[in-house]
Amino acid sequence: MALVLVVVALLATGLAVAYGIERTSGDRALPAVPTVPAPTVSRPPALRDLMPPTVRVGSAADGRWMSLDAEYGELLGSEFDAITPENAMKWANLEPSPDVYTWAGADQLVGFAEQHDQSVYGHTLLGRTDVPRWVDPQWSADQLRAVLRDHVTAVVSRYRGRVWAWDVINEALDEDGSLRDTLWLRKLGPGYIAEVFRWAHAADPGARLFINDYGVEGRTRKADALLELVRELRRAGVPVDGVGFQSHLRWDEQPRDMVGNLRRFAQLGVSVAITELDVRIALPETAAKRERQAALYRQVLQACLAVPACVSFTVWGFTDARSWIPGYHAGYGAACIFDAALVPKPAHAALMDQLRRIPSPTGAGPGPG
Ligand code: XIL
Repeated sequence: MALVLVVVALLATGLAVAYGIERTSGDRALPAVPTVPAPTVSRPPALRDLMPPTVRVGSAADGRWMSLDAEYGELLGSEFDAITPENAMKWANLEPSPDVYTWAGADQLVGFAEQHDQSVYGHTLLGRTDVPRWVDPQWSADQLRAVLRDHVTAVVSRYRGRVWAWDVINEALDEDGSLRDTLWLRKLGPGYIAEVFRWAHAADPGARLFINDYGVEGRTRKADALLELVRELRRAGVPVDGVGFQSHLRWDEQPRDMVGNLRRFAQLGVSVAITELDVRIALPETAAKRERQAALYRQVLQACLAVPACVSFTVWGFTDARSWIPGYHAGYGAACIFDAALVPKPAHAALMDQLRRIPSPTGAGPGPG
């Protein structure tokens, strides 16, 4: 087992040297990468084939499912050109005891991405729920700052040049828009956010650094507060490059003026990204609910495509067989674009249809596909 891991790690490193590094340029447009060898069997067009080259289309991914289910990996590799580790890069998983790192899960996903000509969106350097238990709230501010800085530096340095963007801070705001009452806020003060961004930037100046949250997709109080926070951070010269809109939506709700909301963030000079889209359905799933769900997926894609600063569109898992929703939202499920048997749902068709409507750059009718 250990030998296998070493071989995988070596392979992944070699691949990064071969073509991984260029992928992390801070530019909005995807840099040139070697083309994937032509598939031997023809397959129907996938999301990644139709998405404009300036927007990545990604999914959250979990290495456990790849090992259990070959089809999961095949679809992940063919449908998307970016992946976000669903859990493997969270602090508690990467550093289960002080200074003891378990890189295997994250390395596996980074290696997979490189083999499939995909970008990696790192998630997350400091999340609300992912702090390991060994981080002791009784420690002094200096001690806490040191463990946080060491962690951020170790992780970003390890994947320097191989992760194109990081969720640096995840869920920093409370529902009312105030800074969430966390250990970091209490001990380090509100400046902790800027500090984490600066440490991440120092460790990989080429990575795009995002602040990510939920409940900010439409014009909400929380979105207003996030806008002000990002404005202040940028004014202070903090290296915040983008804002991530998680987009965990419900089939029967609608974010208020998502396009306008994304635009006002873009006006601050940052990129925006749809980072964790899923649309949960109140069970039982019906054909009518699937159609409503499809319309919402389409609408979020439309919003991203309508805003030139939108650099990526990521779903939080692509199959109902592996979604986090049933475990966290009682009574809900069926939130993804493929069903549990990996058959595309109306939501997938809606995304494909929306992409086919993009006019080609030459103006000669609809784009590829
Ligand atoms: C979720 C994962 O999907 C689950 O597998 C895990 O048990 C808990 O976390 N917002 C986030 C993600 O930023 O990290 C969460 O992921 C979903 C909500």
